[in-house]
Amino acid sequence: MPFTADSELDLLFPAEHIPDEARKQLHPDLHLRPLASTDYRRGHLSVLSVLTIVTDPGEDAWVAQFNALRAAPRTYYSIVIVDKALDRIVAVGTVFVERKFLRGLGSVGHIEDIAVDKSQQGKKLGLRIIQALTGISENSGCYKTILNCSDSNIPFYQKCGYEKKENEMAKYAPERSRTPRL
Ligand SMILES: CC(C)(COP(=O)(O)OP(=O)(O)OC[C@H]1O[C@@H](n2cnc3c(N)ncnc32)[C@H](O)[C@@H]1OP(=O)(O)O)[C@@H](O)C(=O)NCCC(=O)NCCS
Repeated sequence: MPFTADSELDLLFPAEHIPDEARKQLHPDLHLRPLASTDYRRGHLSVLSVLTIVTDPGEDAWVAQFNALRAAPRTYYSIVIVDKALDRIVAVGTVFVERKFLRGLGSVGHIEDIAVDKSQQGKKLGLRIIQALTGISENSGCYKTILNCSDSNIPFYQKCGYEKKENEMAKYAPERSRTPRL
């Protein structure tokens, strides 16, 4: 599939929100941009599957989720790195902005779902994704950007300028025959 320029895509948010620094440092064969409404076809779920279990909901349901994220403006920033020769996604990540009542109505950026295709790991794509998401978070006015990770990924996030703080708590819902949907 030939490379599709941003101008031909329906993007989750304006590409200008992505700081130039992260984009400029990428190899010219790669392109960093917001998630697009047709990225189901560019292997978005396949890249995410290096991170955890991914159940393919089908393209229509995927697009409905894309539209639900976009319906909350200035909140969800999902980005992708595309291999231009193949027009395929090779890295993904998201930051979402939580608006608070404390800290003078401050905001916090939450980084989620960072994944780099196995064939492309170790080439600084993860670093570029984190740099771009942190820039989006800070440019949105967030006073901090936070994330959860496994012990084995701590060194990666330290290389990205993050430091270990506090602990994560989790409670998984019990198995249910039918999961309620918002
Ligand atoms: C973790 C992950 C996102 C890192 O992305 P990547 O593109 O492979 O990493 P980068 O090439 O950008 O690494 C940047 C630096 O971190 C280091 N690094 C990366 N992963 C590391 C690890 N697990 N342990 C130690 N150092 C690591 C790299 O060596 C590099 O160091 P350098 O600048 O000194 O060369 C990627 O390997 C991945 O998708 N893993 C599977 C899914 C996952 O665990 N996601 C994170 C969920 S919290």
